[in-house]
Amino acid sequence: MALATAKFDALVIGGGGAGLRASLQLANSGLKVAVLSKVFPTRSHTVAAQGGIAAALGNVADDKWLWHMYDTIKGSDFLGDQDAIEFMCKNAAKAIIELEHFGMPFDRLENGKIFQRPFGGMTQNFGEKAISRTCAVADRTGHAMLHTLYQRNIQAKTQFFVEWFALDLIRDSAGDVLGVLALEIETGEIHVLQAKTTLLATGGAGRIFQASTNAFINTGDGLGMAVRAGLPLQDMEFWQFHPTGVLHAGVLITEGVRGEGGYLVNGEGERFMERYAPNAKDLASRDVISRAIATEIKAGRGAGKNKDAVFLKLDHLGEELINKRLPGIREIAKTFANVDPIYDPIPVVPTAHYMMGGIPTNLDGQVIEPTADGQKVVNGLYAVGECACVSVHGANRLGSNSLLDLVVFGKAAGEKMALEIAQNQAHKDLPADAADMTLARIARIENTKNKESVSAVGEDMRRTMQTHCGVFRFPDLLASGIEAIDAVAKRAQEIQIKDKSAVFNTARVEALELDNLMEVAVATMHAAHARTESRGAHAREDFSARDDINWLKHSLIYKQDQRLVYKPVRLQPLTVESFEPKARVY
Ligand code: FUM
Repeated sequence: MALATAKFDALVIGGGGAGLRASLQLANSGLKVAVLSKVFPTRSHTVAAQGGIAAALGNVADDKWLWHMYDTIKGSDFLGDQDAIEFMCKNAAKAIIELEHFGMPFDRLENGKIFQRPFGGMTQNFGEKAISRTCAVADRTGHAMLHTLYQRNIQAKTQFFVEWFALDLIRDSAGDVLGVLALEIETGEIHVLQAKTTLLATGGAGRIFQASTNAFINTGDGLGMAVRAGLPLQDMEFWQFHPTGVLHAGVLITEGVRGEGGYLVNGEGERFMERYAPNAKDLASRDVISRAIATEIKAGRGAGKNKDAVFLKLDHLGEELINKRLPGIREIAKTFANVDPIYDPIPVVPTAHYMMGGIPTNLDGQVIEPTADGQKVVNGLYAVGECACVSVHGANRLGSNSLLDLVVFGKAAGEKMALEIAQNQAHKDLPADAADMTLARIARIENTKNKESVSAVGEDMRRTMQTHCGVFRFPDLLASGIEAIDAVAKRAQEIQIKDKSAVFNTARVEALELDNLMEVAVATMHAAHARTESRGAHAREDFSARDDINWLKHSLIYKQDQRLVYKPVRLQPLTVESFEPKARVY
């Protein structure tokens, strides 16, 4: 079949913060850049980021990037790669100033400097006391960032393909990536988009779980594409559950609430975090707080009618502060919990929020794959943001480090792509079978002999992940979870989209998204079952301690037989002394 083909210097898959920071770098270098986005770019999930972006500006108290680096390493439970973490923390202040110069309307202190608030795990002087390090635009920081970057891209003449869905990577026999196959959602046409460099910036995949703060668009598309192209995924066992998702709705209530002085209480009115994290209390890291909440509820000390939540109290902060710093939270609480937080507490539960794992990359955002004697760069392919694993978050991300990750590594990837493009003036020839896998996938879901529906299989996937691979992980549940998720994955191959005439492309998109979600869910369950220790967000009941002797290493999982290989954590930073693993207490 002859497919429409277009050529670009650079393709950016995903219109969120990471993609737009990279595309801006490329467009400003005079290159022909296309951004593909399933939704209008300013509706990408970055728009939902609330509390802020971390940088050691020292606007409220003395601060240093080295302290930020230490906090991030400790937050990662020592699984983060220290060279990448140094790079991110060291470049943070520059990134904030750059965003400000782009026009991002940061909140201000009385003295005119950028406002900063405390966030979990962010401390002064290597853990001495909490520090205000998170720069914010009220509780709509991601919204402000995304709009700023989008406007800058318009000015830079980035070309946007809105409501286009990237389906598969095109890889030649040398393993180089030459572009993607994409679906134009409105027309249903499949296109070949050829590029000298391709960047995956497709965000997370929180929709593998039943309860998630993630948007419905967060379906792990870049990860599915990578896996189908034969690449491994890194550290997929590590999923962050945000402590404060609205009960039943899952909508995020920012950690910024606790940064502003809000706190959690159980059904007995007790500030239970004092028992779990005597120093940091409600500003301990997220994995610690989520486990504490789950433990309180399990012990019968939950709050609310069914004792299945805890309460987040902020009524003592006063109407003025809530309206000034947390207006979005007030709106969300009224809409989704039917409470006005000026007067009443918000019922919250730990909710799947962030994927620490992803497509393995180096500090330039280049995708890397293992070889018999080490690893190599996949020519032409990059990944940044939540879909990538560089790895700065290790086993647990600190709140407000994700927006930072997007802009620091988005820029680095854009710079490296521009260099690569300068060295490769011509597009490589496409292989003759470039579209075969994609067309076969489409044909599979249109096979009328198939019996399964997207919604039924999707629901079973989400229930399986929630039940078998949640905040705490149990040996029997993980073992049965493997069988269960493998069985759901098999059924996902038997999907048939119904009612083609009425909702053809919506149904087709959902079926193709399910392929991606399934890849992520299967990888997560298998990697979690294999890691026999507890570290960061991966908390096993049967192996409750961290095991640095056997497990100070990253997992890499392949689609083929869910084969797992491991590689050591990079403990050596770029310019400073290494932080040796030690007990992690808050
Ligand atoms: O709580 C929040 O505002 C979320 C921030 C983050 O995930 O970094």
